[in-house]
Amino acid sequence: MKYTDIISKMTIEEKAAFLSGKGEWQTREIERLGIPSIFCSDGPHGVRKQAGAGDHLGLNESLPATCFPTAATVANSWDEELGETMGEALGEEAMALGVNVLLGPGLNIKRSPLCGRNFEYFSEDPYLAGKMAASYVRGIQSKGVYACPKHFAVNSQELRRMAMNAVVDERTLREIYLTGFEIAVKEGKAKTIMSAYNEVNGVYANENKHLLKDILRDEWGFDGIVITDWGASNDHALGVAAGSNLEMPNPGLGSARELIEAVKSGKISETDVDERVDELLDAVMTLYVNAQDKPDTFDKDAHHELARRVSAESSVLLKNENGILPLKKGAKVAIIGDFAFDPRYQGAGSSLVNVTKLETVTGIVGEYDLQVVGMSRGYNRSGEEDAAMKKEALDLAAGADIVLYFFGLNEDSESEGMDRTHMRIPQNQITLLQELGQANPNLVGVISAGSAIEMPWHHYFKAILHCYLNGQAGAGAVLDILTGKVNPSGKLSESIPRRLEDTSCFRYYPSRERTSEYREGLYVGYRYYEKKGLPVLYPFGFGLSYTNFSYSDAEIIPGKNETADSSGGIRVTVKNVGDTDGAEVVQVYVGLPGAKVFRPEKELKGFKKVFLKAGESKTVTIPFDDKTFRYFNVKTDKWEIEEGTYEIRVGASSADIKLFLKCHVDGTTDILPYDMEKLPSYYSGNIENVPDTEYEELLGRVIPDGRWSGQLSENDAFCQMYYAKSGLARLVYKKLTKMKKKADESGKPDLNTLFIYNMPFRAMAKMTGGAVDKEMVHGIVKMVNGHFFSGLGKVIGGYFRNSSKNKAYEKLLSNTK
Ligand code: BGC
Repeated sequence: MKYTDIISKMTIEEKAAFLSGKGEWQTREIERLGIPSIFCSDGPHGVRKQAGAGDHLGLNESLPATCFPTAATVANSWDEELGETMGEALGEEAMALGVNVLLGPGLNIKRSPLCGRNFEYFSEDPYLAGKMAASYVRGIQSKGVYACPKHFAVNSQELRRMAMNAVVDERTLREIYLTGFEIAVKEGKAKTIMSAYNEVNGVYANENKHLLKDILRDEWGFDGIVITDWGASNDHALGVAAGSNLEMPNPGLGSARELIEAVKSGKISETDVDERVDELLDAVMTLYVNAQDKPDTFDKDAHHELARRVSAESSVLLKNENGILPLKKGAKVAIIGDFAFDPRYQGAGSSLVNVTKLETVTGIVGEYDLQVVGMSRGYNRSGEEDAAMKKEALDLAAGADIVLYFFGLNEDSESEGMDRTHMRIPQNQITLLQELGQANPNLVGVISAGSAIEMPWHHYFKAILHCYLNGQAGAGAVLDILTGKVNPSGKLSESIPRRLEDTSCFRYYPSRERTSEYREGLYVGYRYYEKKGLPVLYPFGFGLSYTNFSYSDAEIIPGKNETADSSGGIRVTVKNVGDTDGAEVVQVYVGLPGAKVFRPEKELKGFKKVFLKAGESKTVTIPFDDKTFRYFNVKTDKWEIEEGTYEIRVGASSADIKLFLKCHVDGTTDILPYDMEKLPSYYSGNIENVPDTEYEELLGRVIPDGRWSGQLSENDAFCQMYYAKSGLARLVYKKLTKMKKKADESGKPDLNTLFIYNMPFRAMAKMTGGAVDKEMVHGIVKMVNGHFFSGLGKVIGGYFRNSSKNKAYEKLLSNTK
């Protein structure tokens, strides 16, 4: 331990209090020992520093900061350098705004396109997600601010996100859900990490020793601090024993009291507490020093320009028939769509940024060499049909050579706190599109959406540019691409399936029970579609350019040895064979035909974005690393390599493989993890209806019972009051559901209601600044379960006991001041 001197002077009350937040965003200072307080803020694509009343739902305004494109967008750049540059800007702004820990990036795996927070996450692929996250982390931390990759781990569902148990087999956990974090920690050197709300295999992520100790600290060598997601702590003492440092946001002194009791009763040791205090002290002291004499401003214009560049390099051209794009100089265009006036450039929730300025297409199109015949909103954002608006748009379309149609997912379609129920865009936008198609065949679509959507209408367009959620300078980036000032180079970081029913977890997601069973195993995104031979609309890694590239001379560079950790790799020559400068993303996928251990057809194991002038060619080298050939063997409980001749495929997308190479690699064990006969679904990829017996075989244990029992517990969510014995509780449930429904219908998600709806009872003791403690929560749950009077007694008695214990604690703290 580094701070033994300070720790030896701290009372147990000070240590315990230090390990939980003092308010929405800050840690507790201990003046007498010179321990300062540090400030945390969201978030992943822009700083959300709240100067006034704090909340973790993006409700109250924050100080102006640059709103960069969200992670789902930037992942499409496949450009680690760009990610790092953006990270630097985020770090600079955080520092200028007095933020020490930036709560991001988010890198949960996009298990289903329905997850309401997919816009905040990078990819369906852990390698890409990890590399991009690591690049942000490096950038942010280079400015003296700590990054906080989140949400560790297996947090791929918003529905009852705080009261959900992710049941996932060890191999899937390691290969799909943890690999990204591993890269962010090992390569990004992240100094903090946020533990997720959910349980992972029956243990809350924040008190999961397997995750926080065995894997994060012992295997990956993480030497930073673990911060709970806001309200994610269940049992603080167990969290501390498992390696979690800081409970956020403001449990008052209740959690600290629990910690002291746990030490007294021997539930945890004081050494655990001391170790966590030591790690937290290291962070607090370092961050405090880092922040001395730092500038308190940042260059708003330069960051706006950077946001534009990031957006331009992350937009994906999905279609471009007859070279309709780039638009010719002076092209006669009609601009149609509400999004051209009021862009949808970020998502709702804790990541919401208060922009420094906001570009709109209609506001800046005048700066481009285009003849605009008119601009019309065309459709109502709320989804309602509006005949007059439609007519205006159709008249404009008829008088233009080309129609630029701006459309996509509305604000209420995707948000933190809720999952989508389908993958469609609003029908009124589709109806208008169909009619526009009749008025003018030269349609160019510009999509804003934070996650994959069904596109059964894609044939109406000659060109489609998918911009995801492209930040405050997105409009300029779009126009730069449409007019050819920028050559698009984004590639999809997720597959776009033809329909929701094609997704691998369609039958399992979101879980309606208390457990979410990850029965599809490794088969997420392209890993599933390829294994199954299921066509998708646009494959993972796909994106067009205004130029073309040729690939040649691919070869394996031999490593020092042919086994793990070989420093070998592949070398390939890429040439820009068109007449426009542009960038290509070279992708390397690895597969093992005839593998004894089931696996996807191929998996992304390397990539490199390379810029080439027209006619230029470059030799690109992509090294192998420790992840190239490995799989997690559940029998040896280690990463192993299966011996065989691997296929190394080099291509421009997962579906556009240009060159095949072969490479023999020695194995590391003869112990096979599985009995092939017993896992037919996983060997074939037919994982849509995995029978219980087979899933248990994969899990290596009995499937936990996820059904709701008659009695609700502290860890059940408010929305489960549907099952409550107490009529009053059911009434509260009905009222809450009504409020949620009303908000849903209004077109803007009500994050407060959503949060409460999905919040477990225990969170009341974690987020009320000490007003409610565990005993009172027990009382409330008793009442909900039909024991009204004994429950009420506990609540009332608990209230007084809690207040006096809090006072006594505060007195102890002030005595040591
Ligand atoms: C979110 C986190 C966020 C935190 C603080 C939580 O509800 O899940 O991603 O960082 O709030 O705003």
